[in-house]
Amino acid sequence: MPTDVLDRIRVNSHVPRHVAVIMDGNGRWASRRGLPRHAGHWEGMKAVREAVEAACAAGVEILTLFAFSTENWKRPRSEIDALMALLRAYAEKERERLARTGVEARVLGEVDRLDPPSREAVRRIEERTRGGSVLRLNLMVSYGAREELVRAARTLAAQARDGRLDPESIDARTLERALFTAGLPDPDLLIRTSGEFRISNFMLWQLAYTELYIASAYWPDFTREDFYAAILDYQRRERRFGRVTAG
Ligand code: FPP
Repeated sequence: MPTDVLDRIRVNSHVPRHVAVIMDGNGRWASRRGLPRHAGHWEGMKAVREAVEAACAAGVEILTLFAFSTENWKRPRSEIDALMALLRAYAEKERERLARTGVEARVLGEVDRLDPPSREAVRRIEERTRGGSVLRLNLMVSYGAREELVRAARTLAAQARDGRLDPESIDARTLERALFTAGLPDPDLLIRTSGEFRISNFMLWQLAYTELYIASAYWPDFTREDFYAAILDYQRRERRFGRVTAG
């Protein structure tokens, strides 16, 4: 079946260049099984591996995963520690495999808020995978879109104060260059799992014209077939970017 689906995706031709994912439902996946929440996050890591493989196979160029939000800092210490341990484990375990398959991993967000071992794990995965040309994988960690926009405003204001930027010349591109996603195209498709219809402070600027796809599965149950189904659904849509017809 996957080969058939991949053929259909390729025949349809317009594969989304950039897919972003809000990986929701790890906690509920665990609760349903009477397991602690962190068990859901660990299971979610397997779904991450599957999504990365599916993105590579489908010809997606950029995959952006919301792994830890600014708001997640308000969770109990034990859960934050579990999520940081998971980030480190992912970086350690997957680094070689990602490098071998041509995946360039970047961690975007307020990385300086992470503890030193987690920052070191981030540095190592980025260093080892640098230059990968099959897929760019963005792990959004300690990320919040409002915080990102506030940070961008501060950067531009400081440049204007120092006489390096004329306020009159500021346009959308100037602002984009101050975001964590500088240089990347906006997501074409956003997938959110666990049936929730919310953006949850994720990429508020970049998602302006993105197609939304809500999957009912909890993230740990989200398979490569679900990923392909989202792409096929995207390919059936007509994107108009505010115009009358696509062009
Ligand atoms: C949302 O589920 C998910 C998270 C807060 C963490 C996402 C992290 C992973 C999927 C692990 C992969 C991590 C890396 C570093 C690749 P939730 O806890 O909000 O679930 P709930 O809504 O059911 O409570």
